[in-house]
This record gives sequence, structure tokens and C-alpha cells, in this order.
Amino acid sequence: MRNDLDILTTGRMAGERISESHFAELCLMNRDARVMATLGGVRSSEQTRDFLAKALEHWRRHGYGIWIFRERDGGRFVGRAGLRHVEIGGAPEVELLYAVMAEFWRVGLATEMARALANLAFERIGLESVVAFTLSDNLASRRVMEKAGFSYERDIAWAGLRHVLYRLRNPAR
Ligand SMILES: CC(C)(COP(=O)(O)OP(=O)(O)OC[C@H]1O[C@@H](n2cnc3c(N)ncnc32)[C@H](O)[C@@H]1OP(=O)(O)O)[C@@H](O)C(=O)NCCC(=O)NCCS
Repeated sequence: MRNDLDILTTGRMAGERISESHFAELCLMNRDARVMATLGGVRSSEQTRDFLAKALEHWRRHGYGIWIFRERDGGRFVGRAGLRHVEIGGAPEVELLYAVMAEFWRVGLATEMARALANLAFERIGLESVVAFTLSDNLASRRVMEKAGFSYERDIAWAGLRHVLYRLRNPAR
């Protein structure tokens, strides 16, 4: 089922609701050791298939989820980003997540994704707040959170590793 959130456009990128057709691009990212170093390590095709199945199910249940972003000029695959329901310390949260292919790092694209997703989360979905978390030493990701307006809240354990949790609140609430 399509809905009006299926396409998410930013200044430099076009985001498409994740679908089966993105499997090859997801495999490319999930096999890249540079990208996956901070995301639990490279993943096999089978693990990517599982990730994709969960992402499709998330869209069906919640009406939003992960988008695949590509350049508006040229169409190259830039990365994936989105909003995902998670439970942290027993509490339901919506996580804002992002990952960018290494050849596109350091030109502000993750920040552009994060800002677009935060606007969508607040203005179109009406969420009260979103969280983002990363390994404590992932300074690039922490910087993206800060540039997108998030504030550090607390340390958490995620997948058995120490992470820092940041939060951004809906300014209209
Ligand atoms: C983290 C990641 C998303 C950043 O993407 P990006 O498009 O390069 O991010 P941006 O260009 O928007 O911003 C990166 C910021 O971090 C800074 N930065 C990058 N590497 C850094 C490092 N090693 N130490 C400190 N700051 C660093 C950049 O200088 C930039 O800040 P600035 O604009 O103030 O100069 C990207 O590196 C990535 O996909 N990594 C692998 C997956 C991942 O870690 N995802 C996040 C998990 S929560």
C-alpha cells in the first residue's frame, strides 16, 4: 500500500520508501566494512534479507520506516535513513537512524537526512520526540546528531555495547 510519505525529498537527495527492489544496494552497503564498522560489522546476504523483511514489515505496521536515499543529480545510491520503533530500557521510543556510503561522507548528507526526517517526524507524523544513539566513540554520528539539534541524554547499553543516547523534542509540543 502506498502512502504520502513514500517519497522524501531533501536539498540534494531523493528518498524512496524501502522496497524489495533495493536489496542489491542494501547488500552493497552491508558488505562495506567502512560503513558497517560502527553498525555491528558486515552482514551476509541472508542477514540483509532479514533486515529488509523487518523494514518492509515496519512500514506496513506504522506507515513509515526506512527510506533509500539517492542523489537528485545522477541518481547514485547515497545511503539509508529512517524512523524505527525500538524499546530502550523497557520504554517505547522512535529512533532516527542513518548510514551513508563512504564515498559520500563529510559533505553534510547524513545531517541533511536527519533534519528532513526530524521535520517529517514532528510535522507530518506528530511524534513527541525522537532519539538517536550510537557507539560513544562514533564522533561523526554524534556530530550529525548535534547538527540536527539533538541533545545528549544518557548512556545506554545496546547490543551489549556502551552507546550514547541523544533526544530531539518536537518544538510544537
Ligand atoms: C556517521 C555518518 C552517518 C556521517 O555521515 P556524513 O554524511 O559524513 O555526516 P555529515 O557530513 O552530515 O557530518 C559529519 C560530521 O562529523 C564530523 N566528523 C567526521 N568524522 C569525524 C571524526 N572521526 N571525528 C570527529 N568528527 C568527525 C564531520 O567533520 C562533520 O562535522 P562538521 O560538519 O561540523 O565538520 C557516516 O560516517 C556513516 O554512515 N557511518 C557509518 C554508519 C554509522 O555510523 N551510522 C550512524 C550510526 S548511529
